[in-house]
Amino acid sequence: MRGTRVVQMDVEQLEQEARSALEQAKSLEQLEELRVRYLGRSSELKLALREVRDRETGMRLNALRQSLEVALGEKRSALEHGELQRKLLTENVDVTLPGEHFVEGHLHLITQIRREVEDIFLGLGYMIVDGREVETTHYNFDGLNMPLWHPTRLPSHSLFLNDDVLLRTETSPSQIRVMEAQAPPVYMISPGRVYRRDTTDATHSPVFHQVEGLAVDRGISLADLKGTLLHLMRALFGEKRELRFRTHFFPFTEPSIEPDVSCHMCDGAGCPVCKQSGWIEMGGAGIVDPNVLEFVGYDPEEVSGFAFGLGLERIALLRHRVPDIRLLWENDLRFSRQF
Ligand code: DAH
Repeated sequence: MRGTRVVQMDVEQLEQEARSALEQAKSLEQLEELRVRYLGRSSELKLALREVRDRETGMRLNALRQSLEVALGEKRSALEHGELQRKLLTENVDVTLPGEHFVEGHLHLITQIRREVEDIFLGLGYMIVDGREVETTHYNFDGLNMPLWHPTRLPSHSLFLNDDVLLRTETSPSQIRVMEAQAPPVYMISPGRVYRRDTTDATHSPVFHQVEGLAVDRGISLADLKGTLLHLMRALFGEKRELRFRTHFFPFTEPSIEPDVSCHMCDGAGCPVCKQSGWIEMGGAGIVDPNVLEFVGYDPEEVSGFAFGLGLERIALLRHRVPDIRLLWENDLRFSRQF
């Protein structure tokens, strides 16, 4: 009887203490600590339950255990709910807010122009061919009908790796490689870097870009060349551009010409960009020399072709009135970002 009373006192006190502790728990971690303390395996209650000898005490302790478990469960849901509310309030993301701006890069001006030219010729049904920056004298000179005495064959003009291998001086060797690889008709352009042993100044760079063009088919004439280049120039410099041909000489074309485009700045009236002439030189072109066609095994009696070579830097400088070619190579972002 006495023993039971003692347990009864303890039980009441324990119940009170546990309930008020549960009540005050502020977090799930605290609650877990309380669970261990009051209902864990070595808690006072569990130890007492293990030692119980009489039914009445056993029932009473069990009732306490159950009611504490219920209270604990309720408190846990309450805390979990509170936690969720807190997260919803503090960790929400407003997806309608404007994003944080980050600096985007863009393509270099030369790359932009190269792609523009590629698009124009893709629209005409041409294929785009990658040439080789390291070429043999066979393709860079022999195939292009360059006489042995031609100055670009000299190490003082061109960058040689050995007697027969050099950094190509123009994109024209692509013509030879393409014609060797396939039968006519050919409609291709080949853009890329070329190398010359030039000293850098406002209009020269030892590395620059050209785009080569070649069309070989039955009955190709200068008129086709003119129409094609006029289309290109109008796409690059505006619909009002006109084209004129001046005679010239290149070993791989006969006749050879240099195309001029009417100045896009002054419409031909004369200005500093066109050096007051109203016309701007755009590169080299001509009708493919029969020797070149024979070199690749084409029959000059059956097919003819035109070819042209233009400088991409030149197009960029003219179009944007950039005064110095070196600006295109210096990678100064204050310059590059303008395009
Ligand atoms: N390869 C010449 C140069 O770099 C440019 C050129 C002229 C290319 C006439 C051609 C052409 O295809 O027909 O100066």
